[in-house]
Amino acid sequence: MSTMRTLAVVVALATAVPTAAEPPLGLPPVPIPADNPQTEAKVALGDRLFHDKRFSADGKVACSTCHDREKAFTDHKPVSQGFRNLRGTRNAPTVVNAAYMKTLFWDGREPDLEGQARQPFINPVEGGLPDHEPMLDVIRKDPDYVKAFKAVFGVEPGEITIDHVVKAIAAFERTILSGNSPFDRWRYGGEEEALTEAQKRGFEVFVGKGRCVSCHVIEQTQALFTDNKFHNIGVGFKKIRGREFEVAREFIRAKRRGADVDKTVLTKPEASELGRFAVTEDITQVGAFKTPTLRNVAVTFPYMHDGSLESLEDVVDFYNNGGRLREDDPVSPFLSGGIRPLDLSDQEKKDLVAFLEALTSPEYDRIAENR
Ligand code: HEC
Ligand code: HEC
Repeated sequence: MSTMRTLAVVVALATAVPTAAEPPLGLPPVPIPADNPQTEAKVALGDRLFHDKRFSADGKVACSTCHDREKAFTDHKPVSQGFRNLRGTRNAPTVVNAAYMKTLFWDGREPDLEGQARQPFINPVEGGLPDHEPMLDVIRKDPDYVKAFKAVFGVEPGEITIDHVVKAIAAFERTILSGNSPFDRWRYGGEEEALTEAQKRGFEVFVGKGRCVSCHVIEQTQALFTDNKFHNIGVGFKKIRGREFEVAREFIRAKRRGADVDKTVLTKPEASELGRFAVTEDITQVGAFKTPTLRNVAVTFPYMHDGSLESLEDVVDFYNNGGRLREDDPVSPFLSGGIRPLDLSDQEKKDLVAFLEALTSPEYDRIAENR
């Protein structure tokens, strides 16, 4: 190995970011892909790219528009609004702890954060760019970016590609971690007083009568509150009720003609409701969506893939009624077997909400207080 190469390796090691080794209480180490190691300079570059509004058709939309730190990396809207305020079809999930997700997006159509980050810039209701060239052009002409890409990836301006951009953004996202909630201090930190009595009773409902834990997983040493799987819990199904097969067929026809899945599901409200089916084409997965994390859920309202539930009380009522808001609402033919009426008392429902409120990390406490 030449002296130059040795030096480069030593420098890379010296600036490795420690977050991977020391995750917050209640979280496992972050998986880091071998081809995209964390470095401080890369994370800083990703942070800047994540907040840069120039990478959109009207110069007003950055990743942070819809994933705002002040809103626990969501936008607090039922469905997101992109450039020229165009509305999409889905609620923006938080980016907090997205680093642990085994697939990205509500339907899991992207395998990793790098793949995910390519999409928003060129989605017609998000960034609205025709392709990635206009943003690469901005980057190649910005002296600060040129310096940073050179330092992080060793590339000249003409060699900067979208692959570099998404690697930096993903590295930044892998540092957006939150644990250490009252629940974590109680469950993993041995602090008996960290939860109120109502929250402790709510925990019993969560793992017992409510059966929430079967999908929103809690483990011995950590809790991600997701099984990384897809379930139809009954949300949004009324929008395509009775027309499921027709909408599915139409979607497949368009896909075979080359329609882009990311564009279709975020611009066509009916196609959006197909959920996991859009990826697997398995008809039993119509309306199945990824189990979201419940960390910080008290501050990431509104809820569900379509933002249709406003409060945690609504969510608990929805589950209590077996996957519907009202008891006389129809039930989806594809409803998961795990969703049945729960028969919770008013006290149990209140306790369950109190437990969900114990999942807020200290960084986002303020949002709950100001609500
Ligand atoms: C116009 C609003 C908007 C913009 C801009 C936007 N997002 Fe999103 N983001 C969303 C919505 C809506 C979803 C869910 C879409 C879906 O699942 O089909 C999402 C999903 C995600 C997810 C998946 C989380 C999970 O749990 O699966 C990540 C990560 C993410 N966005 C990061 C980014 C990054 C990085 C950028 C910038 C390159 C960005 N977003 C730009 C609205 C936006
Ligand atoms: C069969 C698996 C399953 C069970 C059981 C389950 N959930 Fe869920 N949960 C999901 C899925 C999947 C979603 C997303 C559904 C969608 O948007 O269509 C979800 C969404 C949520 C959300 C909204 C989160 C957000 O960010 O939008 C909350 C809150 C929630 N669940 C709480 C609970 C509670 C409380 C229980 C127990 C009463 C429970 N869940 C039981 C799978 C499950």
